Amino acid sequence: MTRRRRLAAGNWKMNGTSAELAEISAVITAHPAPDCEILICPPATLLERMSRDIGEAPIAVGGQDCHREEAGAHTGDVSAAMLVDAGAAYVILGHSERRQDHGETNDDVRAKARTALATGLRVVICVGETLTEREASNTLDIIGGQLAGSIPDLVTGENLVLAYEPVWAIGTGKVPTTDQIGEVHDFIRLQLEKRLGEGVALSVRILYGGSVKASNAAEIFAVSNVDGALVGGASLKAADFAPIIVALDAAGQRVPG
Ligand code: 13P
Repeated sequence: MTRRRRLAAGNWKMNGTSAELAEISAVITAHPAPDCEILICPPATLLERMSRDIGEAPIAVGGQDCHREEAGAHTGDVSAAMLVDAGAAYVILGHSERRQDHGETNDDVRAKARTALATGLRVVICVGETLTEREASNTLDIIGGQLAGSIPDLVTGENLVLAYEPVWAIGTGKVPTTDQIGEVHDFIRLQLEKRLGEGVALSVRILYGGSVKASNAAEIFAVSNVDGALVGGASLKAADFAPIIVALDAAGQRVPG
């Protein structure tokens, strides 16, 4: 069975100034040698300082978005090369907040992912249904369309991470049942197999995101094809994020594979 290294990813969204960098030191102190991979995606303004503060500690940093073009007249935007220059190894793309706030389409996400991959970044591509779509029993159709449209051809098992984030679960405290999470994660794995072949598909990590907290993490991490989490609010404080990392390491020890 393919061994996927579990991934605990924090998305700070539009939160954090230099005062909050101390939270990362606290995570490092709490987890000097985690089994899982840890990734923090702070606002772009903090990337470079965070990556310097982390030094040799086993925590990767990533951006929250990048432009589809390599460079040019795009006021306010950040390029993939700028993220790499600031120390990023990953970039989140197609988050539902970008899709909603900035009208990003699957085509946009695919173009951004192409540029990011060509620049050497790993991409965390987000997919997820709204409550209306779930209530109309359209969840798998929506996710299937987002996967087909957002993933470029250059992906491998190493440079692609998927994040299933139901829009209605983000920042709401509402979490799908473990059956609902399992259904979508199994579906995503199957779609990846059809598109990329079994070898590549079995190496891609699939994260769950949406109101993950210390109190629900163990239950979520026990679901099949959940290889970690993309955590928003609970990644901002080491005291909230550290127990999620503990739960992920514990899940890896219980269920190898
Ligand atoms: P919350 O964990 O705050 O619900 O956010 C999830 C998310 O959107 C991570 O990208």
